[in-house]
Amino acid sequence: MKIAPSILACDFANMGQEIKNITNAGADMIHIDIMDGNFVPNISFGPSITKSIRKYTNLPFDVHLMIREPHKYIRQFVDAGADMITFHVEAETNVSETIELIKGYGVKVGLSIKPKTKVDEIFNYLDKIYMVLIMSVEPGFGGQSFMTDMMDKVREVKKYAKNLNNNLLIEVDGGINEETIKYVKDAGTDICVAGTSIFSSNNYREAISKLRIE
Ligand code: DX5
Ligand code: ZN
Repeated sequence: MKIAPSILACDFANMGQEIKNITNAGADMIHIDIMDGNFVPNISFGPSITKSIRKYTNLPFDVHLMIREPHKYIRQFVDAGADMITFHVEAETNVSETIELIKGYGVKVGLSIKPKTKVDEIFNYLDKIYMVLIMSVEPGFGGQSFMTDMMDKVREVKKYAKNLNNNLLIEVDGGINEETIKYVKDAGTDICVAGTSIFSSNNYREAISKLRIE
């Protein structure tokens, strides 16, 4: 399982150094949470900050857009150095067009659903995307409790995707720590996002290795 630390939980005043440190600690990619204060009740940062931290690591940028009408901002995040762009099915009126827009830039596409959204909402798109992001907390804030029942969605998506897109990756995001990681792993998740459990530790390498369970 790949580990994607969410920099939402890092020290924003030292973002460049934090990115370097998490890279040296063995992260597989950098998870970048973008919030607009509209789709979710919180504001994080946008494309300019994303671009400014690009030079601090060679790891892929896994951009998680929690914003309304994401199609309006795809170009800016591509220019900022995104390698993967995930948007929410609940936030976009024309999901297929936005998928194609992202692909057109040669960037990998992820589709995400909030805890209350049924997996069927994304079934139509599974053959066109690179990844599904299953939220295991209500999006908007770090440091919330993991919703174990969301792992049923991971299993459902995997089952449904089997004949459609065998390479589809599943990412789980929210409330993952050394206790909850076992549910994430058991469900067959490919990429695990962790913010608080990594950045609140005083040893990032150790915090990441605790998530790499067999
Ligand atoms: C929630 C974000 C998550 C979150 C993860 O809206 O998408 O990436 O920050 O943080 P923790 O690990 O603290 O739940
Ligand atoms: Zn996220």
